[in-house]
Amino acid sequence: MRVVLAPMEGVLDHLMRDLLTKVGGYDLCITEFVRVVDQLISDKAFFRFCPELRDADVYGSTTAAGTPVRVQLLGQNPQCMSDNAAKVIELGSHGVDINFGCPSKMVNNNRGGAILLKDPENLYQIVSAIRKSVPEDAIVSAKIRLGYEDKSLAIENAQAIEAAGANELTVHARTKLEGYKPPAHWQWIAKIKQSIDIPVIANGDIFNQSDANKCREISTCNNIMVGRGALMLPNLAHVIKQTASVMPWHEVQKLLLDYTRCETYGDKSKYYPNRIKQWLKYLKLQYTEADALFQEIRTLKTAQAITNRL
Ligand SMILES: Cc1cc2nc3c(=O)[nH]c(=O)nc-3n(C[C@H](O)[C@H](O)[C@H](O)COP(=O)(O)O)c2cc1C
Repeated sequence: MRVVLAPMEGVLDHLMRDLLTKVGGYDLCITEFVRVVDQLISDKAFFRFCPELRDADVYGSTTAAGTPVRVQLLGQNPQCMSDNAAKVIELGSHGVDINFGCPSKMVNNNRGGAILLKDPENLYQIVSAIRKSVPEDAIVSAKIRLGYEDKSLAIENAQAIEAAGANELTVHARTKLEGYKPPAHWQWIAKIKQSIDIPVIANGDIFNQSDANKCREISTCNNIMVGRGALMLPNLAHVIKQTASVMPWHEVQKLLLDYTRCETYGDKSKYYPNRIKQWLKYLKLQYTEADALFQEIRTLKTAQAITNRL
């Protein structure tokens, strides 16, 4: 079984990837999406989203714990997407992932993300252009939802992505309209898996070991991706793989301090108060202690005040 750490824009940045892969159990990380509009993105910009690409020949584009990292691209122009895909592979990314699931209004208005699920031919053109622009052994993966308004094109979209030469497909088992509303329709992942031959990774609402078991059984997928669950329970991948039990709160507290140390280093400390509060909002769904801590720091505005409290 592979457990992939999901892309989460504004949440799962390289520091969080570093921290969670050190806790362990993850086989691959996907970066937050990098928006491709109409030009080749600079090395500097790619390094900002994915610092793991720096000195890739020495460090192998992995997190400090050695987990491979794959860059995700979001865009709608096949030529521009393929130029940027070729570049991230050249920079050392472990494959390239394409975002066909983003529900953001602004992104969809610019014809990127989930809106592309309305047109399988468009998906085909993008994936096929990317496939042709990267070496044969480079992994091209895509991440979809079940559709935009409804699920009528779910199978056709998956087949278009496979026919265009993708090596694997992650399915977040909801439509764009369903947003994040439970339940995730894992049985639809099984339908998709049945209709294509490339590996399928199941995603959506896996928050504990029992969810992972149910999802794997219903979706018939061995491999899963977890996002919000990894923030609620930092050792979720180990718990799912039965290599550890639920991390006790005192260990989570140590992680919060490690995170604080990294986030407040250099010029990033202005983001820290929001980031730590955001993480505690996820943690409090698993740990009552996190809720109490969140209440204590909720009104604190500076990194120093929060660090003192921690
Ligand atoms: C705050 C947030 C940011 C996200 N950013 C991305 C993204 O950049 N790219 C992407 O493909 N999916 C993104 N997603 C979707 C997740 O990768 C995942 O598909 C979704 O959260 C369902 O999985 P989960 O139930 O394990 O969280 C995001 C989700 C959230 C909640």
